[in-house]
This record gives sequence, structure tokens and C-alpha cells, in this order.
Amino acid sequence: MTELTPVLSAHWDEKDSFTIAAYKRHGGYKAAAKALKMEPDAVIQLVKDSGLRGRGGAGFPTGMKWGFIPQGDNKDHYLVVNADESEPGTCKDMPLLMANPHVLIEGMIIASYAIRAKYAFVYVRGEVAHVVRRLQQAIEDAYAAGHIGKNIFKSGYDLEIVLHVGAGAYICGEETALLDSLEGFRGQPRLRPPFPAIAGLYARPTVVNNVESIASVPAIIANGAEWFSAMGTEKSKGMTLYSLSGHVTNPGQFEAPLGITLREILELAGGVREGHSLKFWTPGGSSTPLFTVDHLDTPLDYEGVSAAGSMLGTKALQIFDETTCVVRAVLRWTEFYKHESCGKCTPCREGTWWLVQILRDLEGGTGTAADLDKLLDLCDNIMGRSFCALGDGATSPITSSIKYFRDEYIAHVTHKGCPFDSHASTLFASAKAGA
Ligand SMILES: Cc1cc2nc3c(=O)[nH]c(=O)nc-3n(C[C@H](O)[C@H](O)[C@H](O)COP(=O)(O)O)c2cc1C
Ligand code: SF4
Repeated sequence: MTELTPVLSAHWDEKDSFTIAAYKRHGGYKAAAKALKMEPDAVIQLVKDSGLRGRGGAGFPTGMKWGFIPQGDNKDHYLVVNADESEPGTCKDMPLLMANPHVLIEGMIIASYAIRAKYAFVYVRGEVAHVVRRLQQAIEDAYAAGHIGKNIFKSGYDLEIVLHVGAGAYICGEETALLDSLEGFRGQPRLRPPFPAIAGLYARPTVVNNVESIASVPAIIANGAEWFSAMGTEKSKGMTLYSLSGHVTNPGQFEAPLGITLREILELAGGVREGHSLKFWTPGGSSTPLFTVDHLDTPLDYEGVSAAGSMLGTKALQIFDETTCVVRAVLRWTEFYKHESCGKCTPCREGTWWLVQILRDLEGGTGTAADLDKLLDLCDNIMGRSFCALGDGATSPITSSIKYFRDEYIAHVTHKGCPFDSHASTLFASAKAGA
């Protein structure tokens, strides 16, 4: 059985884990000092060699992204850390920032140095005032210790870190909407190309990386690329944070090598809550197609999850037992996407509105069997035709739930309402039996 490999989360159970003193007690900021003695390109090469892939959802190779920044162009370069974490179920970056904000700051020093940036930004979602306070304090402490600011580690390298607090919009996690928001505009995705590596923040070459991606860098510099790539699978290297939530005995963060299975994580977490059984789950947050008990042994790496018809996304494992109505769960997620649609493109703006109306009818008992085809047709018109991935993501829970739980949708039509509302099991059992 795959063991947990706590690296980022190694000291989270210590009372003062978030302080600079605790971070240094465990060797913190030594990796930054080491990196600043290397050539920037050697730092990029080391991160490339490690096989680190972005932990923000798409899994793009981090070192390769840094390597896209043009060098010797006499322009300012920027690093932007994406700490917007707003997708339902996704809950790894906020705990990481609460427990150990300095690992992000150290990662930012290393990444900024590698891409020759003198300014780095952290864009934090608006609702998490406690995380903002903690990160602000950590930044102040790092300045006071001389780890950021002028001539850091006496290397001649200067770095300023700016903390920016968003206003609470899921779309501002999309990297180009984030950049617009950071510049003071309404947060809506930009047309690409040009990509941020060429024209990002203030039209300058910019790297946008997720919190966990950047926080993984100090350990790679300290322990080497081979240490990191020895964990995980052939194309998905290293350890990562899996966030287990919902109907489980012990929800929380489980740091393990990529490729662990849900069956193994559930065993480590004490299983589905007592007396209940697994019905469906998300491998990577609400925008990734649902899985069922049939996927318990799917390797949770980029390739394994994709081969099984979903996406690893943010590794947000939301667990739902047999008491959950899948139609209701999907309706709630769809209401979220409708609310968060930025309105820039028609398929997503109009489509998510219609999806909610139809799902509300179905859940409320006024839907028809033909509504299922209408839902799928709408999804077909949103998927691949929207301006950004929010629209695509909104269709995932719908198409996958109809694929695996069509009977349950039909039961809502047959019983003119949710069979889970009262004496659920008997009603639903008879619906399934065609009564
Ligand atoms: C609607 C939407 C929301 C997103 N939200 C986040 C987020 O909160 N945090 C994040 O790191 N990436 C988010 N992403 C992905 C980013 O666009 C981008 O791919 C990521 O920050 C790149 O970092 P990485 O290469 O380190 O994974 C979102 C994408 C979309 C389409
Ligand atoms: S897909 Fe949705 S969120 Fe993305 S640009 Fe279009 S309307 Fe905005």
C-alpha cells in the first residue's frame, strides 16, 4: 500500500508551524540561499528535471513554463501566485498558507530569481481574511529577516512581494482574468495568444503558478530533482496534497505520491463514514467528471484519471455516500457555475442559466425524461465552445452524472420529485425496479 509522504505538510501539527522561527527550525530558507548561488537557468533546469507539474489543475510542467519567459529582453518580468482557490471541494492552498506561509515565500524567492523577476504578487481570494492576515504577517517577518527586499542573502538580488486580495470571484482564479483583476480591471479572461509568458501582468512576461506548485520548489532545491522524481508515477512525479472531504470518517489533507488510489486514501482516512457506502466522488473538484465505486482503484495521477474519463484537477476528493441525491448535488454545483459565470461569452452565460432551470425542474419533480436529452444537448453546446474552461467545467458534473446515474434522474421524473426526500431507500429502490 502507498504510504503518506508528508513534505509540505510535515510540520503542520506543530503549534507554531506558521512562524518564521518554526520554519527555520526545520531548515527553512536554506533552499533559497542555495538557489541564489546558482545560475537562474540552472534553477529552471533543476525544476524541469524534477518533473514538477502545476498543481492548479491543468498539470502543466512548471520548469517548462518558467523557461518560456524571454531572457535578455530588458523588460520587467513578474511572478504571480494564484491563491484564489474558489472551486467547490478544493481546499488545499488555504490550509497550506495557514499552516506554513513561509514555504510559499521561499518558493517565490526561488521562482522569481529563476525567471529574473524583481516583483512577485500573491493573489488571494477575498473571503479568507484569516489567511490574508497570516500571509501578510509572514511577508512582514520575511522582510524583517532580510529574506525579501534589497540584496537578499547578500546575493545582490532584490525582490519585492505584494499581497493582493481579490473580491471573491471564482473566475479570478483563471490566470488571465486574475491578471486583469490584479491590474484593477473587471476580472474576465483574456484572449490568448499572447500568453502570459509573453504579455502577462502590465503586458510584461509573467509566470502564473498555483500556491502548491511554488511551495513544492524549496524541497526540490534542497533535496534534488531525483529525490522528487523518485516519488509518483512515470509522467506524474512527486508528492502532492489530496484533499478529502464529505462523507468520510477523517476528512483532511493527505500528502502522498501521485498515483495513490482513492481506496488507499480512504483506508488511511478511516473509510466512508460508519454504516454508509461510497456512491460517487470527484477526483479533482466539482469541474471534473464524477467517479463511482468502479473507480476506487484508478491511479490518482494525471494519466490514470484521464484514461478513466475524468481529470486530476486540484485533487479535491469530495466523497458522497448513498444518502446523497446526485441530482441535487449536481444542481447545487450548477447553480455555483451559473452564479460565477463572468458573462463574457454566450454559451456559458446563457447555457449555465438554462442548465439550472432544467435541473431545478427535474429535482423539483416537474421535469420530463426528454429534459435529460435537453441537458446533454446544452452541455454539448457549451463544451468546447466557451471562451474559458469555466464553461467546460460546468458541464462535467452533468454529463458524468447522467452517464452513471441516469436511473436516478428518471426516478425524479417517475416520482414527480426527489426520491431521497422521504423514506428514500424504499422509494428509490422501487423506482429502480421500474415500479
Ligand atoms: C475558472 C477557473 C478557475 C481557476 N481557479 C484557479 C485557482 O483558484 N487556483 C489556481 O492555481 N488555478 C486556478 N485555475 C487554473 C489557472 O488558470 C492556471 O492554470 C494555474 O494557476 C496555473 O498554475 P500551475 O501551472 O502552477 O498549476 C483556474 C482556472 C479556471 C478556468
Ligand atoms: S466560459 Fe463563462 S466564465 Fe469563461 S469567459 Fe465565458 S462566460 Fe466568462
